[in-house]
Amino acid sequence: MTAMDVLTTTRSVRRRLDLDRPVALETVRECLEIALQAPSGSNAQRWQFVVVTDAERRAAIGEIYNRACEAYLESSSAAGKLFAEDPERSKVQQRVHDSVRHLAGNMGRVPVLVVPCIELPQAELPSGNQAGLWGSLLPAAWSYMLAARTRGLGTAWTTLHLAHEREAAEVLGLPDNVHQGALIPTAHTIGTSFRPAKREPVENVLHVNGWQGGRE
Ligand SMILES: Cc1cc2nc3c(=O)[nH]c(=O)nc-3n(C[C@H](O)[C@H](O)[C@H](O)COP(=O)(O)O)c2cc1C
Repeated sequence: MTAMDVLTTTRSVRRRLDLDRPVALETVRECLEIALQAPSGSNAQRWQFVVVTDAERRAAIGEIYNRACEAYLESSSAAGKLFAEDPERSKVQQRVHDSVRHLAGNMGRVPVLVVPCIELPQAELPSGNQAGLWGSLLPAAWSYMLAARTRGLGTAWTTLHLAHEREAAEVLGLPDNVHQGALIPTAHTIGTSFRPAKREPVENVLHVNGWQGGRE
């Protein structure tokens, strides 16, 4: 795979996660080793990755996730309720909505769940500059997902369980100063072909030398 292939075809895989095929822990370890090449503020590398393979713990995390997802799917920010005025985009959103629901029902059965965390000196999250804090974790998490893609593994960036972060922390035995950034289900994919997604044209988001226009 070229870098271009990896960067344009690493999709959120939900329906095509193979729930029955085990994932070698060594492969996950390799992907994390690559992830550790990501940048972090002051080169502090405060990231930690909790890899969950134990069936009971996966089921417990899956239950928390599913509960949070049910509330989300009922809410006005649910994927399927966005862009209702644009028939083409609304169709895509509906597909995402259904796929989110599908993953929620199966999260606890995905062979590996990866929880990227950031370890701080204190329990409280600092106020101000959130970009500096989370920007020191999330690039590494995305690198993990890209590396997984090159090894035939599918992943999806998920965050819904964070509505019940402390409950998940108890399942995983996380201390108070370890904050979760995402929950990344990881499994072999069913089939290997994934396509670039349709996105807004770059003109809608590109501003040269300062802010111009914005969304109509
Ligand atoms: C910050 C963030 C939070 C997300 N949370 C969830 C989630 O909790 N559950 C889920 O199924 N997908 C989640 N997604 C995945 C998005 O739905 C997905 O990226 C989007 O629909 C585009 O699809 P693609 O990743 O296949 O291109 C999240 C993505 C991001 C960046």
